Amino acid sequence: MSRSFRDLLALRFALLITAGMTLCVVATFLVLRHILDAELNASVLNVASIQAAALTDEVSGDMHFHEWELTPEEASSIQELVRYAQVWSGDGHSLLRSRYMTVDLPRDLEALQAAAAGELVWREADFDGYRVRSVFYPLVRLGDLHEEHVLQVAAPLGTRNAMLHRVVIFGFVMILLTAVSSVMGGRWLATRAIRPVTDIIDQAEGMGAGTLRRRISAYADTREYQRLVQVLNTMLDRIQASFETQRRFTADASHELRSPLTAMQGELELALRRDRDPAEYREVLQSAHEEVLRMGRIVEGLLTLARSDAGAIQLRRESGDLASLTREVVERASGEARERGVELEVVAPASVPGVFDTGLLLQLTWNLVRNALRFAGPDGRVRISVLPEGDMGILTVEDSGPGIPPGSEERVFERFWRGDPSRTHGEGAEGSGLGLAIVKVIADAHGGSVHASNDSQLGGARFRVVLPVLLEPPTRRTATKAPTPPPEAQGALSPA
Ligand SMILES: Nc1ncnc2c1ncn2[C@@H]1O[C@H](COP(=O)(O)OP(=O)(O)OP(=O)(O)O)[C@@H](O)[C@H]1O
Ligand SMILES: [Mg+2]
Repeated sequence: MSRSFRDLLALRFALLITAGMTLCVVATFLVLRHILDAELNASVLNVASIQAAALTDEVSGDMHFHEWELTPEEASSIQELVRYAQVWSGDGHSLLRSRYMTVDLPRDLEALQAAAAGELVWREADFDGYRVRSVFYPLVRLGDLHEEHVLQVAAPLGTRNAMLHRVVIFGFVMILLTAVSSVMGGRWLATRAIRPVTDIIDQAEGMGAGTLRRRISAYADTREYQRLVQVLNTMLDRIQASFETQRRFTADASHELRSPLTAMQGELELALRRDRDPAEYREVLQSAHEEVLRMGRIVEGLLTLARSDAGAIQLRRESGDLASLTREVVERASGEARERGVELEVVAPASVPGVFDTGLLLQLTWNLVRNALRFAGPDGRVRISVLPEGDMGILTVEDSGPGIPPGSEERVFERFWRGDPSRTHGEGAEGSGLGLAIVKVIADAHGGSVHASNDSQLGGARFRVVLPVLLEPPTRRTATKAPTPPPEAQGALSPA
């Protein structure tokens, strides 16, 4: 099950804050304990060293403490301030103890032995119902008589422990309060932080094919959310544009297919009204055949374009020669050129090797050459050239016709766009307006581009296709620096 982002954010926030608070409390506890212990130890050691210094001023070596004359009752009333003192022999016999003490300090033989051997030993133990900390202080330096004697000074730990205890409770309460308030604060923060997202989701949910004009206008007061809204709206712009292109494309396609269908239907119905002789049937069938061919071409073109729209144009790249590919197209067009009285000329080196989809580039070249032949006009000229330029093959098709309508350099590549047939001697009326759109799609698929203009030396339209498909051996780069012979000298074909 997916978890709510808000809850997750709030939880993580609370965990982080609580962990931070816990760390602070633990650190405070440790530092405080260290300070208290250092103070207490210093005080105990001070008392021990003062008592040790003043312990014996008699020649016999007899010892006595210099201390207040307190009764045990008085001592217990200031119990926390009292330092208990006792002198032991190394084997654990009490030799002397503070006047106000009624019982011996806890005897620790092991500590006594270590201290008798000259070591300073610290111990904690229970004494008279209290917890005390003792130092076992060797008295060797008082002389031979005290060689084995140890002074034990003890201090009650009550105040220290009580204070630490209070700190622990206080810290625990703080951690609890922090946890609760950070969960609440985290939820509040997270709710505020994701409010624009909820707005955006609500608005996006309400959008569909019918409301593509709508845009997201979520309340977003931060840079990140403003960017999100902007990105989504740009995406919606693109979706709307592509929806509209699709709609137009479908409408145009059905319109284009309807015309030949209607024509064919009319002719067939007319022919069926009464019996006809074979010649009449043949004429009707021929006409129907032409319409079917035309529809076939349109469907073929539509399929290529639809495949490209779906990103499904799969290039079948193979090694080939652009020059011989062009010559093949010219060969195929030569019959039509002769019929139309158009002079067809090829400018190309003997070979322009590259890696490309031969089928698609044949179609591209064919579409351009057919247009040029149709629009060149009677007694016109068409020139096709293929030249290598670095790793690019430059294919140019130009003619001596009227050229494309000024200002339509981009529009000629739109689907179903056709110029006014009256400009082009009635040519183009039977075209479907898909040829150049397909040219563009094929050039794009090869990573290239196509450009239309009217600056042909022949006086008409000029289409220039740039195809980055050539194998470029390193030697060729250096060779381009040397003056190259004119292309015509590189094996140009004579007009077909
Ligand atoms: N060489 C040219 N000279 C003048 N106009 C041209 C030339 N080539 C194309 N055009 C213009 O561009 C329009 C679109 O050309 P395109 O090749 O896309 O479609 P078509 O030739 O009409 O139909 P199709 O190629 O699908 O049979 C043409 O109708 C014509 O007006
Ligand atoms: Mg065409």
